[in-house]
Amino acid sequence: MGGLNVNSRVLSGMRPTGCLHLGHYHGVLKNWVQLQQQFDCFFFVADWHALTTHYEDSGIIADSVWDMVIDWLAAGVNPGAAQLFIQSHVPEHAELHLLLSMVTPLGWLERVPSYKDQQEKLRERDLATYGFLGYPLLQSADILIYGADKVPVGEDQVAHVELTREVARRFNHIYGREPGYEEAAEAAIKKMGKKNARMYRDLLKRYQEQGDHEAIEVARALLAEQQNLAISDCERLLGYLEGGGRMILTEPEALLTPASRMPGLDGQKMSKSYGNTITLRENPEDVREKLRTMPTDPARVRRTDPGNPDICPVWQLHGIYSADEVKDWVREGCTSAGIGCLDCKQPIIESVLAELLPIQERASEFEQDPGRVRAIIREGSEAARDVARETLDEVRQAMGLKYT
Ligand code: TRP
Ligand code: SF4
Repeated sequence: MGGLNVNSRVLSGMRPTGCLHLGHYHGVLKNWVQLQQQFDCFFFVADWHALTTHYEDSGIIADSVWDMVIDWLAAGVNPGAAQLFIQSHVPEHAELHLLLSMVTPLGWLERVPSYKDQQEKLRERDLATYGFLGYPLLQSADILIYGADKVPVGEDQVAHVELTREVARRFNHIYGREPGYEEAAEAAIKKMGKKNARMYRDLLKRYQEQGDHEAIEVARALLAEQQNLAISDCERLLGYLEGGGRMILTEPEALLTPASRMPGLDGQKMSKSYGNTITLRENPEDVREKLRTMPTDPARVRRTDPGNPDICPVWQLHGIYSADEVKDWVREGCTSAGIGCLDCKQPIIESVLAELLPIQERASEFEQDPGRVRAIIREGSEAARDVARETLDEVRQAMGLKYT
């Protein structure tokens, strides 16, 4: 662990559609906090994405944006280690989305599983819109515009990362073959200096003649070390290795976030739509009340009735919060009616409150200083924009949209 891996860039986004709860904390935010220590991270508020489903009640987006950022900061996401920004503050995402839409076959979007699934699930919303169909491509633009190679997502989003890879490949294939490509690549090789140029050529040969994949890896590392090569030359030579065009857009991979096992108060997955959440800023009295009244094994009508932890939602919470000795105490006490359900819940109540305490302290500091939160986002958005502009510039160039 430790050590910044500067070659890897991580990008992820979250929709602002309500306040964050312990499910978000255990499923996503703790993961972000870890990633920020290892990688160059970009985390953003996906407000345009929220519009694709919530266009009729867009008020909830505006209401959630700043609270969501406060929740991120309170959970330990660190603006010194990651760029935090709002999607719509970087309008370059929209331009890249538009340009990518020109080369994206309709069938690719129609076949994304979430397209039909979500339309079925969210029947109360009319999702037969252009924006909803295109939303995975907007996500592709989000990723590609930062050249992110790692995208932490849940299972349901893996298909979107896969689409992103296909779009990048297609784009590079169509626009990476500039006229005079071979000459440009040869000129770039010379810029590396004699020794490195010879090494690169040997590696290229090893790959082309013997199909040696290790040679490609070594050549990639060699290119990454070249200080005096322009980005465009590096891409050219990377593309040259793979026998394709210039790699203008980077194919990302999904970093599958271990499925959040955070159970809600009723034992189903914690989710706002099930009404079984504890929010990150829930006040401690409500936390106690929610946990005290949460359902247990229905067989335990009286204190003297033994129970079965395996069918009890409280037991699932012990799985998240409790050490083995506490769990042994629960199993033994529950099945022998040695403890009551309130006794059993007590360690959970304490663990949840202890977990929330520092989060809530930090949240209230940020609540009292909205100017600081805005400044964090302003700076993050500017930094993100610098990177986005560079990518977009190359994309425009590759597509022949530079008429100077
Ligand atoms: N679509 C994601 C969601 O609904 C949010 C998102 C938007 C995202 N753009 C992204 C996630 C880019 C990862 C990378 O949860
Ligand atoms: Fe559930 Fe604990 Fe009650 Fe057993 S004692 S039923 S595990 S709350």
